[in-house]
Amino acid sequence: MNGDRPQLGHGVGLRVPHYERALAGTLDVDWVEVITENFLGLGGRPRAVLLGARAQVPVVLHGVSLGIGSVEPLDEPYLTRVRELADEVDPAWVSDHLCWGRIDGHHAHDLLPLPYTEEALNLVVERVEQVQDALARPLLLENVSSYVAYRASAMPEWEFVAEVSRRSGCKLLLDVNNVVVSARNFEFDPLDYLGGIPTDAVWQFHLANHTDRGHYKFDSHEGAVSDEVWEVYRAALRRFGKVSTLIEWDEDVPAWDILRGESQKAAAIEAEVLG
Ligand SMILES: [Fe+2]
Repeated sequence: MNGDRPQLGHGVGLRVPHYERALAGTLDVDWVEVITENFLGLGGRPRAVLLGARAQVPVVLHGVSLGIGSVEPLDEPYLTRVRELADEVDPAWVSDHLCWGRIDGHHAHDLLPLPYTEEALNLVVERVEQVQDALARPLLLENVSSYVAYRASAMPEWEFVAEVSRRSGCKLLLDVNNVVVSARNFEFDPLDYLGGIPTDAVWQFHLANHTDRGHYKFDSHEGAVSDEVWEVYRAALRRFGKVSTLIEWDEDVPAWDILRGESQKAAAIEAEVLG
């Protein structure tokens, strides 16, 4: 069931308050993920942080501005810079989001959901191949959380995500929290979502917290992972098996031991569910 899925174990998103650990050689987690754009074209301390982390553990480059679903041509200079960074860092893989964000030269600085149509599918599939060629390595795409939907959508989100992977061959970064957020906002069952994703397509999980704002959930990445997300994580483990898992905590980043404790909790749940 796991195919040739690499296993990185349990890691955390490395953020500014803990860069010192990368320099000091004290990253006592299995792996880390960094935001690609925070290191692009930068030498000095940022590069020392990244290479320091890489000297200790596997690193994943997680981007936020690829815009795989934007209709504008891909940003070739951006891809060149990511390729150069990746060649230097040798990440386990490079990931970004299944979304769009640019139009008419404007960048929305947001991860906007796509309409789930054949037209959008064709666009994304074609561009995945271009990106993988430009980066000369596999690209993982992450499902985003969403707050708006399109009348034009002709299939549920999970079918769209699954088809992107089936047709392009790209692997998926399944953000369990994003599934929980969108399930609440669009009133679907998170288990239907998981059930629609091919088991061998998922190479990574994201776990994070969200904020419940009464009539909708907001993907805040602040605070410890909620019980609801842990429950869907259990279901995801039962469906997909062992998958490299990462804790995302971006707002009010806690002390290292708390952050690391979340990844240890994920490891304990994995051991309990999978034996
Ligand atoms: Fe995520």
